[in-house]
Amino acid sequence: MMNFRFEVMQTTDLDSVMAIEELSQSNPWTKKNFIDCINEKYWNYLLVGEDNQHQVLGHCILMPGVDELHLLNISIDPQFRRNHIAWRALLAIEKTGNDNGYAKILLEVRRSNIAAVALYEKLGYLLIGARKGYYPKKDHDQSQREDALVMEKILN
Ligand SMILES: CC(C)(COP(=O)(O)OP(=O)(O)OC[C@H]1O[C@@H](n2cnc3c(N)ncnc32)[C@H](O)[C@@H]1OP(=O)(O)O)[C@@H](O)C(=O)NCCC(=O)NCCS
Repeated sequence: MMNFRFEVMQTTDLDSVMAIEELSQSNPWTKKNFIDCINEKYWNYLLVGEDNQHQVLGHCILMPGVDELHLLNISIDPQFRRNHIAWRALLAIEKTGNDNGYAKILLEVRRSNIAAVALYEKLGYLLIGARKGYYPKKDHDQSQREDALVMEKILN
């Protein structure tokens, strides 16, 4: 069991965040995307290992709405995947969301993202729709866009 804690992401963390982001996403966010989230005071989390000195294991960003949280990004360093880090992080966020009066968590995920879809299904997210051509293909090839699945979990 790999233990970790949540820390609020700061701009000084962005080099480690960008390294994991680039290993994780087919269209990685830019540093500016993360800075915008920090400035907006979204729920910007760094997942930090308890065993090692400030080892960043991944990051996770939620945008709070009126009664829903929108999961914008969750990325785990490839070398620490399949340790239930994403699963435990999202369960903890569900509890915090519920404690703070949020009714649900919403997210979009690429149809082809088997790992993420399996993770969300295991957590009990339900498919509520699809957005056609929502994602650019790798390398921003506009000719072949990919659908997003929209999933949600009601919190209570
Ligand atoms: C998706 C991602 C965040 C999962 O993180 P993780 O910490 O490795 O996931 P967990 O260990 O918590 O997995 C929990 C469950 O999800 C499912 N799952 C996770 N990765 C899987 C994979 N590669 N294949 C199939 N199922 C998978 C399994 O059911 C797993 O439970 P199990 O290990 O007991 O079988 C990680 O693979 C990642 O960073 N991917 C790249 C970024 C990304 O796609 N993010 C989501 C969209 S923003």
